[in-house]
Amino acid sequence: MSKIEELIERFSLSPHPEGGYFKETYRSVGEIDSKSLDLNYHGKRNYSTCIYFLLTSDTFSAFHKIKQDEIWHFYSGSPIKLYIISEDGEYSEQIIGANFTEGQVPQFVVPGNHWFAAKTIDPNSYSFVGCTVSPGFDFEDFELPSQKNLLEKFPKHEALIRKLTRI
Ligand code: GUN
Repeated sequence: MSKIEELIERFSLSPHPEGGYFKETYRSVGEIDSKSLDLNYHGKRNYSTCIYFLLTSDTFSAFHKIKQDEIWHFYSGSPIKLYIISEDGEYSEQIIGANFTEGQVPQFVVPGNHWFAAKTIDPNSYSFVGCTVSPGFDFEDFELPSQKNLLEKFPKHEALIRKLTRI
């Protein structure tokens, strides 16, 4: 069994709509009432949720957006690169990994309401990471734009958007 198949089986990972595999590992019992959340949220949310996320070199996590800040944690495998575009079209990137002397970090926060995508750096490899959000994740807060829509919004990032969208 390959290392990737082993991780999928050991941690019961399922395909994620943005690409890669995931498993929710924590969803707080406690909930935040909609009155206590800002107006961008419709309905209540759990305090916090956490997932395992496995990305393989033959694919990518496509540009998407959530409302919350998302805390990424590196566990094992290849470093993973995050590509981030703010609503103002400002681009930034960060590599999450264990080679700290090369500027990689084991934790990184993607700010809420930013478009972001991810790619495993090494060929024939995988990146095994975690993603924590608060308020808790809800697919209602998740946007996976088409390539066409994202290109219309950010024409100056055409090459990146063509590389990291699939619908
Ligand atoms: N639960 C299901 N999908 C996701 C995701 O993309 N991020 C987080 N944090 N939780 C999820």
